[in-house]
Amino acid sequence: MKKISSFSKLSKYEKISWIAKNFLYENPVDVIENFAGFWYENVEAQKQFEGFSENTLTNFHLPFGVAPNFIVNHKDYCVPMVTEESSVVAALSNAAKFWMERGGISARVLDTKKIGQVHFFFNGDGNKLKSFFENNKKDLLNTAKDLTESMEKRGGGIISIELIDKSDIEPEYYQLKLEFETCDSMGANFINSVLERIGQEWRGMVKHSDYFDKDSNEVEINMCILSNYTPDCIVEAQVSCKIEDLGIVNGFAPNHFADKFVKAIRIAEIDVYRATTHNKGILNGIDSVVIATGNDFRAVESCIHTYASHSGQYRSLSKAWIDQNIFNFSIKFPIALGTVGGLTKLHPLAKTSLQLLGNPSSKELMQIVAAVGLMQNYAAVKSLVTTGIQVGHMKMHLSNILAELKATVDEAKEVENYFKDKVISVSEVKNYIKKLRDSLISKNKLEKI
Ligand code: MEV
Repeated sequence: MKKISSFSKLSKYEKISWIAKNFLYENPVDVIENFAGFWYENVEAQKQFEGFSENTLTNFHLPFGVAPNFIVNHKDYCVPMVTEESSVVAALSNAAKFWMERGGISARVLDTKKIGQVHFFFNGDGNKLKSFFENNKKDLLNTAKDLTESMEKRGGGIISIELIDKSDIEPEYYQLKLEFETCDSMGANFINSVLERIGQEWRGMVKHSDYFDKDSNEVEINMCILSNYTPDCIVEAQVSCKIEDLGIVNGFAPNHFADKFVKAIRIAEIDVYRATTHNKGILNGIDSVVIATGNDFRAVESCIHTYASHSGQYRSLSKAWIDQNIFNFSIKFPIALGTVGGLTKLHPLAKTSLQLLGNPSSKELMQIVAAVGLMQNYAAVKSLVTTGIQVGHMKMHLSNILAELKATVDEAKEVENYFKDKVISVSEVKNYIKKLRDSLISKNKLEKI
């Protein structure tokens, strides 16, 4: 057993040496060199990164790119994207340009409410609890005044509080459900602090009230936490144009393409296997912007997947339909984003991303992200119903394969030329490079004779 105490207290060098010896079985100096290769030269910047998390040894880099040619609500954007998946940015840029030439994307925020819950168990009379809550909810909210004051000055705060009786599902189980407006911040810290205060005060209020019998006045707080499911913090985006304005799409006549596209979206509405991949493609775009702007992509993912199941079955986030010769394509999903607080200002590149977008409000960022999700989905489904995705994917993938096989510049040129009109696979490329290298060896041997 490789147990270690106070690992976090070791210096970065000591930590690396310990993992080198115990898990990598390599010379610690080599491992330090490898990790150090990814440190910032700027010591202060490196320190800042190490502070974001615990036991940091080095930085793990991902490509930061941009997708230009976005028009959302008549405004131009060049969208920052952090993703490791080839084709995502290229496909998105292509789709954005296509729709830029057709008037761009319209997007709107439907609501921005966030939710938090105090989960508790109560051993007394539920009806009495309800009337006590109704009579005391104002005072209860006031107990968090010092925490909500500055958010209120910005136009936010607690919107509502409700007592929910869940004791028919789980004995003695109740919730306080609170709705919040957190303005331009994602609001997790604010919401959680308020909930913990409200939970503690609620317990005390019930315990010390003579409204309840002494042996049935116990509120046992189980937990106080925001919900990442925010169905009322929701945005939608849409594009539309006359079918003939779609033009020839990858060799398909506009009518034929529009018909196939609408059917593909319908399949993702009714089939969970397809819906999952379909929404994954949408999240390729959403996550990239969410990461680039320093937001919490795990929160975004869990929220979106729950929303995709709100009808009782996991379904597509997007819809497509044809109405009086107009092709329409739209997307709707809940998403809680911040443009202040958290990593948004601390991470130098998150800050740059937001600058690149014109320092948007969280509402504007929600609209940009909705437009990105829509375009990413358009690009994927367009390829799927026309050429298939492998042509584009594998072309992008080829450069990764070539790098992995350490192909020379001349070899890469030969390979790219050879595979121009062929199906690309790792083994095919490997074989072809081997052939090239073998023939070069034979040629050299011949020349020596
Ligand atoms: C790949 O990362 C994403 C796609 O599979 C999405 C889709 O199938 O719609 C291309």
